[in-house]
Amino acid sequence: MAILEIKKYPDKILKKKTSPVDSIDDELQSLIDNMIETMYAAPGVGLAAPQVGVSKRLAVLDISSKEDKFPLIVLINPVISNKEGIIEFEEGCLSVPDYTAKVERAEQVLVNAVDRQGKPFEIEAEGLLAIALQHEIDHLDGVLFIDRISPLKREFFKKRYKKAAKLDKINQE
Ligand code: NI
Repeated sequence: MAILEIKKYPDKILKKKTSPVDSIDDELQSLIDNMIETMYAAPGVGLAAPQVGVSKRLAVLDISSKEDKFPLIVLINPVISNKEGIIEFEEGCLSVPDYTAKVERAEQVLVNAVDRQGKPFEIEAEGLLAIALQHEIDHLDGVLFIDRISPLKREFFKKRYKKAAKLDKINQE
């Protein structure tokens, strides 16, 4: 297993819609293992394939550090088949370091996916698990949580990002 490099905003791969996984082979299994290791090492509660530079419809998720009743979930080709209610939660992302913002999402979701053995399954989730599922599935559609905040907040984020990038450059010179 190996810890993979996490792609950060504004890397273009994070904006790209992923392609479906078409075969669950050894290569995919080792990618899944490496993504799980990378997620725990970060540490994070979820990681989507584009975040490690692979544009495939695949994500891993483990919110047990926040709510211990949920095990590790591997999602291959997930789709949200139903959404209900509205919930607001302060989100962050391993690809958007040092920034959090309140995001509005569905309070309950029904997700259909395939597990790493190739077996289809369904998750009915609410609360934190529902939020995490929507956040990771967004990654697979090229959407970051900063795309879901108000335009004003997003401008503020971008300005702050540019300023930090400039300071970084000066410090390196
Ligand atoms: Ni994220």
